[in-house]
Amino acid sequence: MSASIVWPDLPAAQQPPWSDADELQAALDELSALPPLVFAGECDVMATRLAEAAQGRAFVLMGGDCAETFAGNNADSIRARLKTVLQMSVVLTYAASLPVIKVGRMAGQYFKPRSQLTEVRDGVELPSYFGDAVNGLPFDAASRRPDPQRLVRAYNASSAALNLVRAFTQGGYADLRQVHAWNQDFVRDSVAGQRYEAMAGELDRALAFMSAIGAEPDELQRVEFYAAHEALSIDYERALTRIDSRTGLPYDVSGHFLWIGERTRQLDGAHVHFASTIRNPIGVKIGPSASPDDIVQMCEVLNPDRIPGRLTLITRMGAGKVRDILPSIVQKVDASGVPVVWVCDPMHGNTREAATGHKTRLFDDVVNEVEGFFEVHRNLGTIPGGMHIELTGDDVTECVGGTGGVLEGNLGDRYETACDPRLNREQSLELAFLVADMLMMR
Ligand code: PEP
Ligand code: CO
Repeated sequence: MSASIVWPDLPAAQQPPWSDADELQAALDELSALPPLVFAGECDVMATRLAEAAQGRAFVLMGGDCAETFAGNNADSIRARLKTVLQMSVVLTYAASLPVIKVGRMAGQYFKPRSQLTEVRDGVELPSYFGDAVNGLPFDAASRRPDPQRLVRAYNASSAALNLVRAFTQGGYADLRQVHAWNQDFVRDSVAGQRYEAMAGELDRALAFMSAIGAEPDELQRVEFYAAHEALSIDYERALTRIDSRTGLPYDVSGHFLWIGERTRQLDGAHVHFASTIRNPIGVKIGPSASPDDIVQMCEVLNPDRIPGRLTLITRMGAGKVRDILPSIVQKVDASGVPVVWVCDPMHGNTREAATGHKTRLFDDVVNEVEGFFEVHRNLGTIPGGMHIELTGDDVTECVGGTGGVLEGNLGDRYETACDPRLNREQSLELAFLVADMLMMR
């Protein structure tokens, strides 16, 4: 791989307010010389898997933190997130007999778009928090100073996380015969945990049967797990874009799958141009204000060769709007003939402020939006291809509801997110069971 791409000078929304251009250049030079975190060939395989999802023969499950943090980049936290996605994926696979494409919002999700450049607390004004790759969350001047060396730290943190993910998923931990082991600790006694335990028991019997007849497929031992993040910092992503020596094509080697956020999908902007250049499978978030015609145009720009699996549209309309707004977008895109994978993000259209002042989401709104998403696609005869969830493996109290009964008054108990509220593991598992039912009726 080599880095020899000349990038046009296009307006880029939401770029971190770095204060020192030399420091930034030094960090980017360092990044440009570092090895790839993922391989082009892996990105290509992921795209073929996504092509299956586009046609209803697989389902995409993307999940992880809203904002990863360096402090949270430890073995326990990574394992817990991985376990959550694996448990959800087993529930979906077992119920719907569909392969699940497992994707972490992970190993690179260190950048956040912000509505305000600065934050004021008690009369003190400091830069907003732009993600750990830019500055720190604590509200003091030193932490909030954008520091380009954090870009290098984000690369190193992503590298360490991916290394552990690869070890877990290839080294036996993700072996299907471990399904019970993933269900330990606080989730085990929950309603969803018990339902999972019963399902894992059935699965065990099926696996024992397969073993008895001598069938020990490799797929039992290893899982494919892909890393995804929002391609927000154009500088970071460009510095990690390389020409693949095998194909001569550019790949962003910072992650397998990159998505463009709702706030940076301007058709004539740097983000869409960047996404159109790289060969990785890519995604675009689409909110309720999107014009269907603009989205069709964007699909033409991002997938001109009409390759299934190349482009995923991640819709995040809000529970109250999805049934009204999604149909015309889906209809127009479908009529354009550009193949896309439709994925539902039931988190970002459902953020609200609790009486306690916490930013939260109601579990029922999340479920309602996924239901609406399935309804819309069923009515139009199109394919609901996956979901994109902000979740964590820990027992946090950030979203309200679920049978575990997180109440608004509990939000302060374990509110740990660096940005948006995440489903905890129990809520995530409960959601997986509900979506499994929707998938079976798709
Ligand atoms: C996110 O995924 O954390 C995010 C900022 O989403 P969106 O671009 O959909 O608002
Ligand atoms: Co978020």
